[in-house]
Amino acid sequence: MLKTMNHTEDIEPQTINDSGSDNFPKKINNRLILKDLFLIYKEKEIDVVAIQGFNATFNAGEISVIMGPSGSGKTSLLKLIGGVLTPNSGEILFGEAKVSEMDENELAEYRRNSIGFLFQDKNLIPHLTIYENLEFIFDYQNFSHKKTSAQIEFLLKELNLQDRSSHRPTQLSGGQNQRAGLAVALANNPEIILTDEPSGELDSVSRNEIIKLLKTTIEKYPEKILIIVTHDPEFLSIADHVYFLEDGKIKSHMDSVELGEFLKNKTINKVKNGINDTQITIQKSDFEALKEKIKEMQKKIEKIEATKRIY
Ligand SMILES: Nc1ncnc2c1ncn2[C@@H]1O[C@H](COP(=O)(O)OP(=O)(O)OP(=O)(O)O)[C@@H](O)[C@H]1O
Ligand SMILES: [Mg+2]
Repeated sequence: MLKTMNHTEDIEPQTINDSGSDNFPKKINNRLILKDLFLIYKEKEIDVVAIQGFNATFNAGEISVIMGPSGSGKTSLLKLIGGVLTPNSGEILFGEAKVSEMDENELAEYRRNSIGFLFQDKNLIPHLTIYENLEFIFDYQNFSHKKTSAQIEFLLKELNLQDRSSHRPTQLSGGQNQRAGLAVALANNPEIILTDEPSGELDSVSRNEIIKLLKTTIEKYPEKILIIVTHDPEFLSIADHVYFLEDGKIKSHMDSVELGEFLKNKTINKVKNGINDTQITIQKSDFEALKEKIKEMQKKIEKIEATKRIY
């Protein structure tokens, strides 16, 4: 049974986060393991096998990007991880908890305590202000009023929305909306953040903003797991892992080192094969992604070197 992770009960002095606030205490370092997952939608006479034999491990502090053609099972996979659907077979293990064996009540508790969903445009209630949207999500989770206002202020500050709290979603830019959406997704201090097409219809500036924000969130809260479903190759620049899905199966998986190589080769091949307008755009994004990747790899190498010096 999953430990209750209510904010008020879960504060342990030694695990208070680096930002110095006790609004978001660190939760136990966790790992999400998916073993041989199958999901079948039964529609009248027809069975649709949406996920077939999916295996993966998602670690805290890592960003995993899931890509694949329409209908390949990306959203279905997020629904399984998020405890919205139960697999027909296989296991979902989260720390000590066996999510795949939970009943409805346990799943509701798992979602409430451990899962944050960020969708393209479904995180905010349109007729409520940003503050009221946050209030709503906290009320729904039965927090005390005092605690609620402190946590709302904290979230607004974290996402740089203090001066937008009395605005409604329609009065905000696309990027600000996504920041507010992320505030809602983070309200329960979840260990697992799931995002489905977070950049959707955003312009490139807002898109880059949300990419940076998601990256910063994981850097700041490395005890969280972030899984991003997207069609947008720009997200590869922040990925520690990328999974390409096809027909509910992993067609390929790359870690950050392989990803760096892949992007480099892709760029080189495009140069070799001649460039048209579309390729110039893709090539530019690949190049920028590669630069980011190299920077990250350098940081990781520096960290390893520093550890070596200590020991
Ligand atoms: N509620 C449902 N009932 C029946 N079949 C479904 C249901 N939801 C999804 N499917 C089917 O399961 C398969 C996977 O769908 P899913 O939504 O997971 O794909 P996706 O990769 O997220 O696609 P997209 O990129 O278009 O969002 C598809 O064949 C889809 O038609
Ligand atoms: Mg989808």
